[in-house]
Amino acid sequence: MSQNGRQDRWATRFGLIMAMAGNAVGLGNFLRFPGKAAPYGGAFMVPYFLALLLMGIPLMWIEWTIGRHGGGYGHGSTPGMFHRLWKHPVSKYLGIFGVLLPAIIGIYYIYIESWSLGYAWQTAIGAYWGQTSHDEMGRVFESYLGLGGGRYSFSAMAYLFFVITFAVNILVFARGIEKGIEVVAKYAMPTLLVLGVILAVRVITLPPGEGSVSDGLARIWVIDWGMLSNANMWIDAAGQVFFTLSLGFGMIHTYASVLRKDEDITLNGLATCATNEFVEVILGGTIVIPAAVVFFGVQQSKHLITGSFADMGFQTLPVIFQQMFGGRLFGTMWFVLLFLAGLTSSVAMFTPLLLFLKDELNLDHKKAVVVIGAIVFVLMQPVILFFHRDIVDELDYWAGTIFLAVFATIEVVVFSWVFGMDKGWQEMHLGADLRIPRIFFYIMRFVTPVFAIGLLVWWTAHGFLDALLMKGVDPANKPYLWLARAIIAGGFILLAWGVSHAWRTHPKFFESADEEEAP
Ligand code: PHE
Repeated sequence: MSQNGRQDRWATRFGLIMAMAGNAVGLGNFLRFPGKAAPYGGAFMVPYFLALLLMGIPLMWIEWTIGRHGGGYGHGSTPGMFHRLWKHPVSKYLGIFGVLLPAIIGIYYIYIESWSLGYAWQTAIGAYWGQTSHDEMGRVFESYLGLGGGRYSFSAMAYLFFVITFAVNILVFARGIEKGIEVVAKYAMPTLLVLGVILAVRVITLPPGEGSVSDGLARIWVIDWGMLSNANMWIDAAGQVFFTLSLGFGMIHTYASVLRKDEDITLNGLATCATNEFVEVILGGTIVIPAAVVFFGVQQSKHLITGSFADMGFQTLPVIFQQMFGGRLFGTMWFVLLFLAGLTSSVAMFTPLLLFLKDELNLDHKKAVVVIGAIVFVLMQPVILFFHRDIVDELDYWAGTIFLAVFATIEVVVFSWVFGMDKGWQEMHLGADLRIPRIFFYIMRFVTPVFAIGLLVWWTAHGFLDALLMKGVDPANKPYLWLARAIIAGGFILLAWGVSHAWRTHPKFFESADEEEAP
């Protein structure tokens, strides 16, 4: 059944959960999580699980609820959704973040995703076999990206895999939510789970080398209580929970917007979190860290398991695969797994924009896909060609850190305080298959907002001014960072125009639907 004339919907509950889990499970689970956790050891898991319980899971329910509620009025993105929660002229403009941020992340995420595909191929054919040290693999990686010190970072191979990855994304996307995203998730997610389990078992059964598997597992499961006073660790853990669950970006809202009014939120939302956490903590945690410890030993692996996406997945692990029995097969599996994890997330990153163009600006599906495809393709060029200029870090800092915290704060305040927890709680439980324990009512009202505001304040107080003023940045890179900022600012201005135009012209804002909600 479609609502308000929208054709998009989820065909099955299984498909819905796989798509939502696919949205959440991404490169962050396998590359970012081990890098964030390992430096702090098991102590990291304390703030991590606390943030999950007090912020991640509640926010997941809130985002599903905002999405389904707004979807009922025909809105697939947060400008319209916020407008329905809060009848204030500014609310729709605040919603712009939920369209812009995921798209900004998407323009570099697809590139990283394409490396996985490129490395899956290279591993399968054994292209880098023989480069057995971490440094040698570093040079392989640099040459893969074309970081030879020239004006552009370009290599034909990386570009080819980028084009393939981009095309796959657009193809899935063009087929729409039910026929594209849901179908791909239904196959990709179970495949990913199987690959993840196989790899985890392979790592657990590794014979001891420089270190043992249990030394490796100890790195995320044995708690050094003294670490708990480390504020950075708390912030990193909370940031990771946002990132891994795709919260604070508008991506979950959009997937939830095509739910039917009576379709369950509470159990499905929890299932999404549970699937993501299984993949992140159990699979992501078991594969990367113990493998590095076995092969490099406890001490050396400390330097190798870093927050850098590139280092972990594309340098450290390829060294390990070369030394492991069946390494070529397992290595290929690893990169295929990364690619699938990336794909099911990246298609979610442009869906808010897609539905914004369709629902609010009345573009037909085909036109909207072409517009998005063209914009994304163009914007990805500087990301690829000037990769060595730190454009990605700049985009990530603004979209993935600062504005993420701004948006998360806005949404939780708008939901829990402006719309109101009483109404919110009721809305959340329409058609619910699980009654959420009442304590979460108060958590959503008081604790989750404090978490979001706390993160915002911390990030603003630490490093914001330096980042804003580009302190310590190589002067040669500055124009490129300005380019990154121009992209974000330009996106914001275009979307603001789009919102203002839509609200002046779209008939649905003048219909009785507006009255429905009036008390
Ligand atoms: N949650 C996904 C991941 O872990 C996708 C994502 C990445 C979402 C970045 C938002 C920001 O990779």
